[in-house]
Amino acid sequence: MTASPDPILAPLAAEAKRLSARSIADLFADDSARFDEFTWSLDGLTLDLSKQRLDGAALESLAAFAAGRGLEDWRTRFFAGEDVNATEGRPALHMALRARPEDGLPFADEVAAERSRQAAFAQAVKSGDKRGSTGRRLRHIVHLGIGGSDLGPRLVHAALKRFCDPQIDVRFAANIDPADINDALEGLDPEATLVVVVSKSFSTEETLQNALAARAWLAEHLQDASAAGRHVVAITARPDRAQEFGVAEDAVFGFEDWVGGRYSLWSAVGLSLQIALEDGAWEAMLDGARAMDRHFAEAPLKENLPVLKALTDLLNAQGFGYATRCVAPYASRLGLLPAFLQQLEMESLGKHAGLDGGLAAGSHPVVWGEPGTNAQHAFFQQIHQGHFIIPVDFIAPVEGGEARPDMQTRLLANCVAQSEALMRGRSLEDVRAEMAAAGEDEAEIARIAPHRVCPGDRPSTTILLERLDPARLGLLLALYEHKTAVEGALRGINTFDQFGVELGKQLAGGTLPALKGEGAADPASAGLVAAIREAQKGA
Ligand code: F6P
Repeated sequence: MTASPDPILAPLAAEAKRLSARSIADLFADDSARFDEFTWSLDGLTLDLSKQRLDGAALESLAAFAAGRGLEDWRTRFFAGEDVNATEGRPALHMALRARPEDGLPFADEVAAERSRQAAFAQAVKSGDKRGSTGRRLRHIVHLGIGGSDLGPRLVHAALKRFCDPQIDVRFAANIDPADINDALEGLDPEATLVVVVSKSFSTEETLQNALAARAWLAEHLQDASAAGRHVVAITARPDRAQEFGVAEDAVFGFEDWVGGRYSLWSAVGLSLQIALEDGAWEAMLDGARAMDRHFAEAPLKENLPVLKALTDLLNAQGFGYATRCVAPYASRLGLLPAFLQQLEMESLGKHAGLDGGLAAGSHPVVWGEPGTNAQHAFFQQIHQGHFIIPVDFIAPVEGGEARPDMQTRLLANCVAQSEALMRGRSLEDVRAEMAAAGEDEAEIARIAPHRVCPGDRPSTTILLERLDPARLGLLLALYEHKTAVEGALRGINTFDQFGVELGKQLAGGTLPALKGEGAADPASAGLVAAIREAQKGA
């Protein structure tokens, strides 16, 4: 892989070149205290960078690079609510959503008022004070949203299942594929259903179409359009549009423009969770994220978990040129974490232009992954033996909160073993010796041994969570949010806009009439459109 040629990132390329002279196993052999020196902990979250190709000099050099790029000043501006989202001329203040008044973040009063309103509504649904139009308790929540209006709530709902009221059934629909909304509504009692329409812009086609379908379903079953309206709430930064759509003013929960969609989980976007989670769990998650905020804001760069994670990931991608990064949560309930991080990181950092008017420095790696141990039976073959080096983030709750603790221990054993195997590999000599000890003849050894070699020396990070609970989940998600922001600041890009998603939406607007026979398709797509129309005739 080739390192980024961008002069801004030259220090990373230089460090990578220097570090290439030593294997990760050598770095361990050189220093018996390596694990202690390359792990950092905060409130039950441990960041283990010891299996990354790092040494003490690299940490010094990377921290100096960050300081030289003005990260500390940027961090101050970030928390002060300055317009770090420079292209859209607004702050990025998702931390304010989980702050306490004493933290001194802007908009504390507005946030407190909105949080109280959300809590009161959630409590009213949970207690039965807020009921459906026919007096039934609301037991089904249908959460409609996409991207940041979906991924965070969906992830948290799955991750914190053990902290949710089993009496409250939350379903999600995001895609405009009718299968999503059809599955979400299937079997629900409309009299006991609350539809939560989540859209920061309140202009996203998928969400509005899903909302129309859900509202029609309610009206059909309740046989009263106005009654249907009492089963719908909207979460948006555009209450005007929600009211135009027909949502009652007192059923709209707002959030501000200075909350980016992929950073909005902590706002009213999480209302479905506030209803579903047991008392105190939502606040505990916000408090966990707040603990990471305070740490990020105050800790020196060389002891700062988001900064250290960002610098390690930057070194791998921009220094060593590793083009992808795998996220492997060793917890089925964190199965949606890779998808959440795909939007968080790739929509934040997959940028073309730099804030200085030139091109963005470097390119963000493709983020992907699946839970372990499933991943071991799907793509770890390539991670172990493929030519591309793919750094892995292993995320492992030590206590999963499940029955059968022996299985949990076996899960953890697999997680640790995978990071060890990636680092140590298995040499041809090792394989030959193993096969000889097993009695294989020389011809068979010569034939097979090369195929069993694992190059090793492959980097990974392990993040341990004491347990999978609201506070640790908040810490973890805030860690990645701030790591993402640090990477953007150091690369000189705007982490908080997403102009790249506009073109496809615009083109879809032109393709739809062509598919309906009401307009001409782009010549390059005309054949596809014709084939689709033909197939639809036959359908
Ligand atoms: O993918 C583009 C995007 O604007 C995301 O940034 C956002 O989370 C998603 O679409 C949904 O947007 P909205 O919440 O406005 O419906």
